[in-house]
Amino acid sequence: MEKRIVVAIDGPAGAGKSTVARQVADRMGFLYIDTGAMYRAVALWASRQGTAFDDHHNLTQLAIAADIDLQADRVFLNGEDVSRAIRTPEIAAAASRVAAVAGVRRALVEKQRAFGARQSVVMEGRDIATNVFPDAQVKIFLDASAEVRAHRRVAEAGGDPAIVAREIQDRDHRDRTRAEAPLLQAPDATYLDTSHLPPAEVVEEILRLIRARTSNGKAVTS
Ligand code: DC
Repeated sequence: MEKRIVVAIDGPAGAGKSTVARQVADRMGFLYIDTGAMYRAVALWASRQGTAFDDHHNLTQLAIAADIDLQADRVFLNGEDVSRAIRTPEIAAAASRVAAVAGVRRALVEKQRAFGARQSVVMEGRDIATNVFPDAQVKIFLDASAEVRAHRRVAEAGGDPAIVAREIQDRDHRDRTRAEAPLLQAPDATYLDTSHLPPAEVVEEILRLIRARTSNGKAVTS
């Protein structure tokens, strides 16, 4: 059986992960998995249920029960298209909080590994190279300056630049300092600063890395 390839892309909010990961997946014919969308979906469900952030038991139960389906650019939670509902600043902040709960992470990491076991994937998030797929063939850490990241978010979704910058800063701090699988560059990941690079160039660089570390997109079996 042909071995599957995992391209792991981690980095802070606004580093350009989604744009780049989606294009890399298209070019390679791999499945694109946005793991942040999974944490957002659980956060949305929890907020609708009124589940408190410190109610770890119920948050974990929701994460286990959540039927999350990722299709191209659409996200489905229990059959409902929540693609837009999960993109608010409130749900972004809530996702970062529920993502700190060990049981929630365990449940979602299991679903993420199941996606990657079935086919070759480009998976983006915070802990893909360090925790979800430490054996990924290609590991990328995407970064950009705080100013550029805030500017990108404002260009995408609008808002007051100072407030958006603050929200990103708070979320990154929480994601980097939590006890469970914090945002961290894997020692064997390639660091790419996208502050002054157009997405097309970042995509080409990642495609070069994939070709170099695999047999032109096929896993090298030894
Ligand atoms: O990538 P994003 O901004 O949609 O992610 C939303 C939140 O989910 C982010 O602040 C941290 C959390 N997250 C995580 O902890 N681990 C991942 N692999 C992906 C996202």
